Amino acid sequence: MRAFIVHESLFGNTARVAQAVADGMGGHLDVELHTVVDGARPEGVDLLVVGGPTHAFSMSRATTRADAVSQGAGADPTIGLREWLDQLPEGNDTPFAAFDTRVDIVRRLPGSAAKSAAKVARKRGYRLVTRPESFYVEDTPGPLLEGEVQRAEVWGAQLVEILTGTLRDWG
Ligand SMILES: Cc1cc2nc3c(=O)[nH]c(=O)nc-3n(C[C@H](O)[C@H](O)[C@H](O)COP(=O)(O)O)c2cc1C
Repeated sequence: MRAFIVHESLFGNTARVAQAVADGMGGHLDVELHTVVDGARPEGVDLLVVGGPTHAFSMSRATTRADAVSQGAGADPTIGLREWLDQLPEGNDTPFAAFDTRVDIVRRLPGSAAKSAAKVARKRGYRLVTRPESFYVEDTPGPLLEGEVQRAEVWGAQLVEILTGTLRDWG
């Protein structure tokens, strides 16, 4: 079974979570890890997982990515998860999961990149197999809160269980 994980990460925190999710899948799936700028497309995969930073309560936009760069982010800001999803082919019920990173102190505010991404993917015919998940950073540039990398590994392992039928689908 093939899993395709794609992430956007301006400061590197979402990239770290994406790696942890892949690690959590731990050899049970054939995992490909991609960035939104590397041009790879998820063709014929058994699971699509997308991740990005929450910017202004949703997925990033060119303006918010420029803002991140002005705050010291080093990544290529030309394309984000929103634009990557714009090019997503029809899902035909392919299992799908989304995660994001966001700042701990505004944890209670409702908007998140993962929820926005899940909404788009659902409209494209992907089947959400678990709730959109957030992983938390201390401040805009990071770092991830203690324990979040381990939590991301567990989340990756749970996705394998969902896919292989050990855990029941969420929706
Ligand atoms: C322009 C901008 C807007 C942001 N808006 C939010 C927000 O609405 N909610 C939130 O929790 N974090 C917000 N953040 C913090 C980001 O979520 C944080 O920088 C991100 O999780 C870091 O991930 P990365 O290292 O992968 O880029 C914002 C950051 C930037 C630069």
